[in-house]
Amino acid sequence: MLRFFGPLIAPIIGLAFVTALLCAILFTPHEAEQTLVTASVHDGGYHLEPREIHYSFDGPFGRYDNEQLQRGFQVYKEVCSACHSMERVAFKDLEQIGFTKPEVKALAKGWATEQPSVNPDTGEPAGRKSLPSDFIPGPYANETAARAANNNALPPDMSLLAKAREGGPAYIHSLVTGYRPVPADIKKKFPDFTVPTGLHYNPYFANLNIAMPPPLAADGQVTYADGTKATIDQMATDVSAFLMWAAEPKLDNRKRTGSAVVVYLLLATALAYMAYRNIWAGKKH
Ligand code: HEC
Repeated sequence: MLRFFGPLIAPIIGLAFVTALLCAILFTPHEAEQTLVTASVHDGGYHLEPREIHYSFDGPFGRYDNEQLQRGFQVYKEVCSACHSMERVAFKDLEQIGFTKPEVKALAKGWATEQPSVNPDTGEPAGRKSLPSDFIPGPYANETAARAANNNALPPDMSLLAKAREGGPAYIHSLVTGYRPVPADIKKKFPDFTVPTGLHYNPYFANLNIAMPPPLAADGQVTYADGTKATIDQMATDVSAFLMWAAEPKLDNRKRTGSAVVVYLLLATALAYMAYRNIWAGKKH
């Protein structure tokens, strides 16, 4: 029995190993699927899980689309940066998504807020223009100022936001496009439910009321240089893709390495099998 199956065991194990690896890579749960938990009880089913949004970087062979990331940066710059900082991203990092050096220099120089500095003559606090090597400066001097301007809520720094929230970019997309009127029947289940002044009803936010006013209010809020139509949905997809890049700039490399490893393992298995055949050729079992 063993004499018969013995020679087959090694290739079978090898094949099973490679198949398992391929399955693991090809069937990695989609970001959105990972979060398909049922709505929690505490809110009686009013809290919604992120919608499924399709991105160019989905799946094992997905890649970032630089044009989209540049559009997303534009939305961040023209809309979100009024309240949200992005302190771990330096201007020069934007070269990775296709901006040229002169473009980055101009972006840094023209940024709405300046870098904190001191006046060399008087020692008084002062600002200076950003350089490409600087981190993108946030809109507020500190947390107190940020809360004072936002109904005591703190707009979180956006550098790692796409990785810090369950659902990632799909959550960000759903949240910024998810504002709606308070459901009429919510009072029946929760007589005490109110939306306090200054807050906004949003079923994608964990406690349903969010301090952020709807940031994307109308189609055409930004004008894209590449001619893409700036619908609310498009702006939300672009900015959430950009935030994913900010949080995980090396995603493409990781996927490329993954594919290379699989190809290498397949070749190694084929070679091992051929070597095995060669060594045993002419031997009688
Ligand atoms: C007018 C200020 C303002 C603008 C503009 C703004 N936000 Fe916000 N954002 C806030 C505040 C305030 C919070 C905190 C909300 C809270 O805790 O209730 C917040 C929170 C968030 C959160 C986190 C929600 C969570 O799970 O904690 C996301 C995501 C977000 N904003 C995305 C965006 C995007 C994307 C844009 C640009 C398209 C944007 N915001 C523009 C004020 C703003």
